[in-house]
Amino acid sequence: MFDETHPLVQFKLDILRRAFPAQDAIVFGDIYGVEGAYTAKCIEYGCSRALLIDSHETAPWLRRRLDQPAIDFYKGDFADPFFMASVRETYEIGVAYDVLLHQAPLLHTVHLMLEKVRERFLVVQPMLEEQPVPGSVVYLPGNSSGAELHPFADRPDEYRVFDVDQVNQAHWIWGMTPSFLKAALAGEGFETVYEATTGPLTPNPRWAWWGFVAERRTTPDSHWSAHSRTKDLRSGA
Ligand SMILES: C[S@@+](CC[C@H](N)C(=O)[O-])C[C@H]1O[C@@H](n2cnc3c(N)ncnc32)[C@H](O)[C@@H]1O
Repeated sequence: MFDETHPLVQFKLDILRRAFPAQDAIVFGDIYGVEGAYTAKCIEYGCSRALLIDSHETAPWLRRRLDQPAIDFYKGDFADPFFMASVRETYEIGVAYDVLLHQAPLLHTVHLMLEKVRERFLVVQPMLEEQPVPGSVVYLPGNSSGAELHPFADRPDEYRVFDVDQVNQAHWIWGMTPSFLKAALAGEGFETVYEATTGPLTPNPRWAWWGFVAERRTTPDSHWSAHSRTKDLRSGA
């Protein structure tokens, strides 16, 4: 539920305000539980237009969209390259709140998102504490760590993070460390310029809410998506 007095909502709005002023925004996943509230905030904070992409839609969201013509909506899967190819425009800022840990094709989805973002990208989500090896990302389905790793071990039916049959966008798939996410963003040409945490995500202190603001520095020349420009292993060059 979107309650502006709730500390987590305030945390997300604080991260969002750091991206402004901005002309336009693309928001990835903003229906479940919030009915497009962060998309509407982008307009309130000064964007002349904001696009929400979500595979889900609700009656309250559709009413909000009708009331606010500066908001647009594409219903679809932002992890699907064919759908994302239909998004022909780019946006000054991109917002990814509570979505990345639900993406099975994680790096590819981050890339598809960032292709649409010209300047700044915002992430807020539960993150796993840093592991002994920097850059760690833990695949949760099938993991046997039990309560030690489960973010809500007291609610196993709701948070089926270890269920190998629930690898989909409704469930947690990844335990991402901050160092992993920053390296993944850097690989897309985005430097993290601000990060903050709200502290432990109860009841498991190994998880915490984190927020990141990243700015575009480059468009990487040797990115894996650019097949024609990456090294040809056969030539030895
Ligand atoms: C956990 S909710 C987060 C909502 C809001 N951003 C927030 O911070 O409270 C995730 C939302 O993203 C959407 N979503 C997740 N993965 C998606 C995908 N690959 N394509 C489209 N929508 C997706 C879901 O339908 C849902 O509305």
